[in-house]
Amino acid sequence: MNTEPTHALKKAVDLASEYLTGIGDQRVGPDEHSLQGLASLDIELPEAPQDPGSVLGELHAHGSPATIVSAGPRYYGFVIGGVVPAALGASVLASAWDQNTGMQVCTPVGAKLEEISSRWLLDLLRFDPACGVGFVTGATVANFTAICAARHRLLANKGWDVEQDGLFDAPTIRVVVGEQVHASVKKALSLAGFGRARVETVAADDQGRIIPSEIPNLDDMTLLCLQAGEVNSGAFDSFTEIIGDAKNAGAWVHVDGAFGLWARSCAEFDALTEGLNLADSWAADAHKWLNVPYDSGLVICRDREAIVNAMTIKAPYLDDKSPYEPCWFTPELSRRARGTEVYAALRSLGRSGVSDMISRCCGHARRFASQLETAGFEILNDVVLNQVLVRFGDDQQTRRAIELIQRDGTCWAGGTTWQGKHAMRISVSSWATTDDDVTASLEAMIRSGRQAQAS
Ligand SMILES: Cc1ncc(COP(=O)(O)O)c(C=O)c1O
Repeated sequence: MNTEPTHALKKAVDLASEYLTGIGDQRVGPDEHSLQGLASLDIELPEAPQDPGSVLGELHAHGSPATIVSAGPRYYGFVIGGVVPAALGASVLASAWDQNTGMQVCTPVGAKLEEISSRWLLDLLRFDPACGVGFVTGATVANFTAICAARHRLLANKGWDVEQDGLFDAPTIRVVVGEQVHASVKKALSLAGFGRARVETVAADDQGRIIPSEIPNLDDMTLLCLQAGEVNSGAFDSFTEIIGDAKNAGAWVHVDGAFGLWARSCAEFDALTEGLNLADSWAADAHKWLNVPYDSGLVICRDREAIVNAMTIKAPYLDDKSPYEPCWFTPELSRRARGTEVYAALRSLGRSGVSDMISRCCGHARRFASQLETAGFEILNDVVLNQVLVRFGDDQQTRRAIELIQRDGTCWAGGTTWQGKHAMRISVSSWATTDDDVTASLEAMIRSGRQAQAS
């Protein structure tokens, strides 16, 4: 038995390298045989210690074949990015460091990397440099954190201390969302004590955008939730048109930009993202379009005091004199140093690299849409970003086509329902997707679509 940490680490790097070598040539979804292989991991709890290297060998032998190859170039399911090389390496380093990134005192480097990454992100997204940034697990928690900051500010303005006194008997906050609000915002609202159903819902247009003229009169006790990147269509709400009036009324405007926020890094999408920076808070996922490993979300809040008040944790052993603590911006206290990978991704890509990645993915999405349309299939959305909704005939034929595409294994895309119709959603979110990948994927999609229509 070799319990040297470096032995296990080197073995892990070898196995991971083997996994990644030729990842572009592998089938994207596991076959039946690989799924059955998972049973080999399902053993009784070992009574005695096992060799760390052998444990890793077993994980690779039976676990790697059963992965969904979303780190590869031809995975288009949900909105799931890959991992850029520097971020992959940084996650290994961050695991070796094993830093508790709640507090400076536990990790000068983890805290510093998040402080620097915050500055870079605000610069990249062209946001006010004074915004507070929290490194959370994903956009669901980012939405939750922002909603807590909004809750703090709206109630503090009325003289109510919600962190101290809770929501019982508090002045009422109105919550206004669009018809196509993402489920994670509703979950976040429920976690924050607002309830999923206690919202005013505004009608959306055929792309899923809030219809500005349908927004009710807002006031200084309203939280308005908009979105940059509807999860199916990729559509953006009309920020300039909506946010100015909302802010004049004293409302707090939150934007769920889980993937769409990254479009702010690319001048090509300026018309789409115009006015987005005028909101009060934003949620984004670094594990989606910045292509860092899971789990990595970002909450950004213009009102630094509001987020800090909403998230601050006080204990006699915690430093309250520090100028910056990562835990002031997140629900968690102890957590991993996820800013390390964000730092590495941003530093390795640079401003132009992020922008090129976003632009490239959207170019691939447009090509999917135009060639699928030319092949006779119906595109349901305006392809404004990286999302394509395609229909291969009626609902049944579309379901069958998706099944055939997934079984074929060249690429992977999943199903969704859009305006009452079943569709396949293609989300191009990986840095690794090339023109050749799109060509191979299109061939598989067109072949499967025609087969589904013929059967
Ligand atoms: C628009 C939008 N908001 C929020 C989320 C939730 O993100 P996460 O799964 O990282 O919590 C997603 C995930 O797909 C999304 O697309």
